[in-house]
Amino acid sequence: MEDRFGHRISYLRVSITDRCNERCVYCLPDEHQDWLPRDQVLTFEEMARVIRVAAGLGVTKLRVTGGEPLTRRNVLHFFRLLREIPGIRDLGLSTNGSLLPKEVEHEGRTVTMAAALRDLGVRTVNVSLDTLDPAQYAAFTGRDYLSHTLAGLEAARAAGFESIKLNCVLMRGRNEDQLPRLVQFAGEHGYLLRFIELMPVSSTEVLTEENFLPLAEARRIIERSTGPLTVRPDFKTNGPALYYQLPNSEQLIGFIGAMTDLHFCESCNKLRLTCEGKLRPCLGSHLETDIRGPLRLGVDDATLAEVFRATVDSKPKQHDFRDNYQPGRKMIAIGG
Ligand code: 5AD
Ligand code: SF4
Repeated sequence: MEDRFGHRISYLRVSITDRCNERCVYCLPDEHQDWLPRDQVLTFEEMARVIRVAAGLGVTKLRVTGGEPLTRRNVLHFFRLLREIPGIRDLGLSTNGSLLPKEVEHEGRTVTMAAALRDLGVRTVNVSLDTLDPAQYAAFTGRDYLSHTLAGLEAARAAGFESIKLNCVLMRGRNEDQLPRLVQFAGEHGYLLRFIELMPVSSTEVLTEENFLPLAEARRIIERSTGPLTVRPDFKTNGPALYYQLPNSEQLIGFIGAMTDLHFCESCNKLRLTCEGKLRPCLGSHLETDIRGPLRLGVDDATLAEVFRATVDSKPKQHDFRDNYQPGRKMIAIGG
């Protein structure tokens, strides 16, 4: 599938739930309580069918997100279904990490959630970590779960994922002081750390002049402790991050700047499937196409493929975040 701007679409992010066990300030405002009724959320079988169609159209990379994907009941069943889909070569998970150390039953054994996921073919995990300070973590996420998340990272390391990434959302007045410490922590453990500019995907109040910390400033803060960073445009992961290398070190850190990086959308290869069955061509646009309706009417795969093509054809050149964008659907309901 190719969009109007020549982007080859090979990457699908699937949100399997709108629920979460945390309440991050930049994602889920306190007042958000209206979870979707269960019958509006796609079943795992329905999601797997949509993904199979996507794979038939050239999607090779899949990332499972939420809400917090690991809060969904019987989540390992979903990963077992994914294993049966030909064409998905790269399977990743985005999580807050708190449930990775949980013990689960998997093929007759008791193992950590992380180990079960690895065994079911998940290659990479992205874990949200905005601070290493327990009180700040609780202030960011509304939950005192830093120790769970750190245990989750250890469980992920023990499980042997191909890569473990850390996502740190930048917020002025909340975590500037943590940036050098996060860089050091990531370096010590071999995690690939990425700093993310705050985006207007939560309540409109979160992205304010006071809260926003631009990437350029975050880089200056880090360079004060590490020395000058060198840009590495040759190093690419699946997403829009631009990576830099630390001096006298192999360590790379990524910067994801939807707001200030004017090239942000240039190599976009993504579509999103929300948990209630909307295909979204762009995180920062209100466009969406319903696929649950046709799916539940019992249409054939060719008709579902048409829904994909229509979504790809509607993919905008770039997101609308810089034009005073008002979120219609919060991040938690889209899938990060
Ligand atoms: N701005 C930037 N990043 C966000 N995330 C969630 N909400 C926002 C926001 N408003 C990121 C978190 C999470 C990932 C899935 O999305 O870092 O790790
Ligand atoms: Fe939950 Fe992730 Fe949103 Fe935080 S950012 S509330 S962990 S879905």
